[in-house]
Amino acid sequence: MQNLNELNEKIASIKQEILDNADALKSSRSVYECRKTFLDSKKGKIGQLMKEMRNIPNDQKADFGKAVNAAKEWAGQFFDELDEKLKAEEQKLRYESEKIDISMPAMRTRYGNLHPITTVRNQLTDIFASMGFSVYEGTEIEKDYYNFTALNTPQDHPARDMQDTFYLSPEFLLRTQTSAGQIHVMESQKPPIKIISPGKVFRSDDDATHSPMFSQMEGLVVDEGITLCDLKGMLDLFVKQIFGENTTTRLRPSYFPFTEPSVEVDVSCFQCGGQGCRLCKGTGWIEVLGAGVVNKKVLENCGIDSERYSGFAFGLGLERIAMLKYGINNIKLLFESDLRVLDQIDD
Ligand code: PHE
Repeated sequence: MQNLNELNEKIASIKQEILDNADALKSSRSVYECRKTFLDSKKGKIGQLMKEMRNIPNDQKADFGKAVNAAKEWAGQFFDELDEKLKAEEQKLRYESEKIDISMPAMRTRYGNLHPITTVRNQLTDIFASMGFSVYEGTEIEKDYYNFTALNTPQDHPARDMQDTFYLSPEFLLRTQTSAGQIHVMESQKPPIKIISPGKVFRSDDDATHSPMFSQMEGLVVDEGITLCDLKGMLDLFVKQIFGENTTTRLRPSYFPFTEPSVEVDVSCFQCGGQGCRLCKGTGWIEVLGAGVVNKKVLENCGIDSERYSGFAFGLGLERIAMLKYGINNIKLLFESDLRVLDQIDD
């Protein structure tokens, strides 16, 4: 390039080129790229014009510089405006795509609720706590001695067959009953004793109403002058609170090695009031727990004077109570964590 005229022609053609290109620019990103091809100080088509300065006669140099700068300014402004316009369009599109209809109904928040077994355990614990019982939590792995022998069930005792036991070794097993806790408590506390002991127990048993793992709650009272009447009185109070004001109890003779006498406790059917229905299988009564007067041999095994003290014990199945209360007919439903089931059992 030799003079201003040539420069002006060049600038005019660059401007035209920019205008021609502009139509194809649809995003601020492409504006940025295009801007570089013209305005980059080293490689840009306008940026490079300054290099021509050395070929220009001295008296035209000042005007040459001004013209190049004016072209730069024009192009800069042109791209700025285009960029602004495209950015505004892009933002508008984004706002539209992210639009939220605040009149739409809100998504339902799912709240968790306690598992029915936990609810039943809490309810029973509250009832017994209000009668002055404290809670003892035993261990799931027990010694054969605590689960059986000390409970007057030595090796070869036929009552061992009542419960199919998971043995871990000849000495250790998964407790088959929370009754094992009775021994721990009586070994470590002096009467008066008044405890409940909730927890998991294990038996090799599996059908619609039995599961290899289930939950029990044990109760034990030891003091001077405790009789079967105290057990009956306490149970009457208990069943009214859990099954309703009109519920009564009935004791039937039974057998457990660690209680003498032993009883099976029935409650009057809370569904039909004793008339006979499907729940109570037409009998008007529902079996809910095993209990009895603590066998003297068990007291003595724990170093408690059986002449001075006596006691009663009971054991109930929490799944059984939950199944009765909530009308569940298969114990597995309590262990499957199916929300469609659990959602219905919330109180
Ligand atoms: N442990 C007995 C059972 O699991 C229940 C029970 C507990 C019976 C306490 C009497 C006294 O079948």
